[in-house]
Amino acid sequence: MPQFKLAVLPGDGIGPEVIAEATKVLDAIAGKYGHTFDYTYAPVGAVAIDQTGEPLPEDTLALCKKSDALLFGAIGHPRFDNDPSAKVRPEQGLLKLRKELGLYANLRPVASYAELADLSPLRPERMKGVNMLIVRELTGGIYFGEKGRKDNGNTAYDTCTYSRHEIERIVKMGFVEARARRGKLTLVDKANVMESSRLWREVTRELAEENTDVDLNFMFVDNAAMQLILHPAQFDVIVTSNMFGDILSDASSVLAGSLGLLPSSSIGSTVGMFEPIHGSWPEGAGQDRANPVAAILSAAMLLDHLDLRDEAADVRRAVNEALAAGVGTEDLRPREQLGTAAFGDRIAKGVA
Ligand code: IPM
Ligand code: MN
Repeated sequence: MPQFKLAVLPGDGIGPEVIAEATKVLDAIAGKYGHTFDYTYAPVGAVAIDQTGEPLPEDTLALCKKSDALLFGAIGHPRFDNDPSAKVRPEQGLLKLRKELGLYANLRPVASYAELADLSPLRPERMKGVNMLIVRELTGGIYFGEKGRKDNGNTAYDTCTYSRHEIERIVKMGFVEARARRGKLTLVDKANVMESSRLWREVTRELAEENTDVDLNFMFVDNAAMQLILHPAQFDVIVTSNMFGDILSDASSVLAGSLGLLPSSSIGSTVGMFEPIHGSWPEGAGQDRANPVAAILSAAMLLDHLDLRDEAADVRRAVNEALAAGVGTEDLRPREQLGTAAFGDRIAKGVA
């Protein structure tokens, strides 16, 4: 009987509610296939700051390091948003986790659901056939480059630095993902302006020689932002740097009609982290209103990562069936509106 150690970091706001539905669905999988998922819970984000003074306590990090995978809810609280200069902030917990666990690749799939076509901010014909994967570099670039102040605090700087090694490993992953999908890879950069982007192109061109079966193209990030709105179906896999990936993937995440649908995985070394794309939605916390699908589909990505392919497919099928049946949380404007827990129940039942 395979046994898996999962670190569960529900975090802030609606994080605990949606994660409870994800573990509910994992339990249904465990029952069906005879697996055991051992969950160990640990604090991160604002709740961790309240409990320990740190957004990522040492114990939480140690737990993550010895787990098979990590399920993450959401972090953030408005009391920090009004003070971006606060010394300790929930986001630091997430950034440190990515860095410490070597999670250099963030994978964000974006697909359209036929039954939710009316919810998309784009016209249904533009959403037709949208099915892309954004592969975002996650531990380098301007997020982690040298930053600071000079001139008595009157000049501030953030540096975007990338090494060949950092670019190679993420672009290689882009090629692998593209090969497993429709065989198209788009490198998004700003090579007309930035030196680091020129290195990305150089390295990517070299890698293209060993990956001739993948159709590679290059696109400037400003154009990519337009193209994602005009013709999102043209994209298969996008590979890009940390900051461009943050902006483009958050923009793309609303295309499907609700932010509450989209999962992500952050991978790299050994332990992978699986997390809904949405934030902590503090106003919705504790109200049984949040859509658990993004968290549940993140659990499906976790199953894939543990090489439990049939199990992952089961979860996706159960989600699709529930959506097709017209049930869902309020954000989906469904025929039959359910709360977070009841929607999770429905999906868990579909799995079994
Ligand atoms: C994301 C978030 C984070 C990021 C924040 C919370 C630090 O926006 O995961 O997209 O910018 O990477
Ligand atoms: Mn973001």
